[in-house]
Amino acid sequence: MRQSSLVVVANRLPVDDSVAPDGACEWRRSPGGLVSALHPLLQHTPATWVGWAGGTGPAPMLADIDGVRMHSVPLARDDVRDHYEGFANSTLWPLYHDAVEQPVYHRRWWEAYQRVNQRFAEAAAEAAEPEAVVWVQDYHLQLVPGLLRAIRPDLRIGFFLHVPFPPPELFMQLPRRAELLRGMLGADLVGFQRAQAAHNFAQLATKVLQLPATDRRIAVGERVVRIGAFPVSIDMTEMEALSGRPDVAQRATRIRRDLGDPQHVILSVDRMDYTKGIEQRLKAYSELLATGHVKVRDTVMVQVAVPSRERVEQYQILRERVEREVGRINGEFGRVGEPAIHYLTQPFDRAELAALYRAADIMAVTPLRDGMNLVAKEYVAARVDDGGALLLSEFAGAAAEFPQAFLVNPHDLEGLKLTLMHALQATPADLNARMRSMREHLRVHDIRAWARSYLTSLDQTGNLVTQLTTT
Ligand code: ADP
Ligand code: F6P
Repeated sequence: MRQSSLVVVANRLPVDDSVAPDGACEWRRSPGGLVSALHPLLQHTPATWVGWAGGTGPAPMLADIDGVRMHSVPLARDDVRDHYEGFANSTLWPLYHDAVEQPVYHRRWWEAYQRVNQRFAEAAAEAAEPEAVVWVQDYHLQLVPGLLRAIRPDLRIGFFLHVPFPPPELFMQLPRRAELLRGMLGADLVGFQRAQAAHNFAQLATKVLQLPATDRRIAVGERVVRIGAFPVSIDMTEMEALSGRPDVAQRATRIRRDLGDPQHVILSVDRMDYTKGIEQRLKAYSELLATGHVKVRDTVMVQVAVPSRERVEQYQILRERVEREVGRINGEFGRVGEPAIHYLTQPFDRAELAALYRAADIMAVTPLRDGMNLVAKEYVAARVDDGGALLLSEFAGAAAEFPQAFLVNPHDLEGLKLTLMHALQATPADLNARMRSMREHLRVHDIRAWARSYLTSLDQTGNLVTQLTTT
């Protein structure tokens, strides 16, 4: 077993297997915020990524990707059902997103969560050199820091939560709340997207575990666990370079032509998830069509919604409802060759996404709750022309960084419609000024700045930071 000085542990490896048109099996980058954040960062760094390759049964042997070693953790069918689909995505995910869907609690799921976390901790322990840095990611693996510390006390362990961390009133519902907190407190540094999340965590450490805590430090016996906010970001340079490519610019022009060269293209790009506010957005758009405030031909909406967690019932129900509503809206307002909504469920490569962003006058990112929402940042990065409008939910982590966006409360249908109209009618000078200042912010707060601030705090030797952020 080859060992590394930096080990990233995440539920998913940064790849999905897919079947190419010629029937060959190939690996492609999997959609989702965590992979988008970490993938560019680790390229060309001697690191190991410990994660699940997405299937069931024995773990596939994967070649290194861009110099990063892939260490796959096997999950059996029961593990996927009870850990990934169950405790992670039917208990924690809805609870951490304001319980916008009802969280489900099953004792069998908790057993699977413990078992799978133990397996990930053992895999990380195997992959880590003596005194290595191990960086554990997200809500699927909250017990790993504690379990790993028990096996390998020599390691520096970081934990970062990509999703929101809920207020005590919600977290207290969890039957195994104390164990989950103790698991996270196995880390030396626990990072969140927003300061409010760190505050919630500190409050819970005191309330549930009676530990002395501030919003920066928690005393766990002899150890001090540091906590803080580190808003995740994207590779601005990569997205700018892509978006600036002549073929991508041509593709954007072609997309607009294929859409009928409307005055306004409104784009949304989401995983098909009930946290993303897709239904509320469709309702707002449909009402604007019904009242004649927007007209098909002048305005076209493109909704990309890549299916996600498809075996979980709430996701199946959502997909059916979204597809029914898109069908209804197109039936009612579309014309032959001119649908009101272009609905796409395919995963796209990065260049196609960049072209879509360039083609869109308005990017509507209106989740009901979202840890960060990297799509919003990708849109800003792709607008090398300083054009376009970002319609952004107040409940996305990105809203804290982009006050210049057209901010909305997605629960307020009238507000959503008004703000969308405001964005549609804004002057180019207003749009340029807003976009320029969002781009300036993003240039400074890109993915490397995120890694630098988190890892400087975690690895006080400074070696890792230099290695990672100078590539
Ligand atoms: P989440 O982490 O909940 O999935 P984010 O907005 O933070 O949400 O991240 C989503 C990531 O997935 C972005 O990097 C986005 O580009 C990518 N993505 C979303 N839809 C697609 C798609 N259809 N094809 C390829 N990548 C996608
Ligand atoms: O941050 C939210 C998250 O769970 C990420 O860990 C992941 O990148 C994304 O959503 C996609 O979800 P999944 O791995 O379940 O397909």
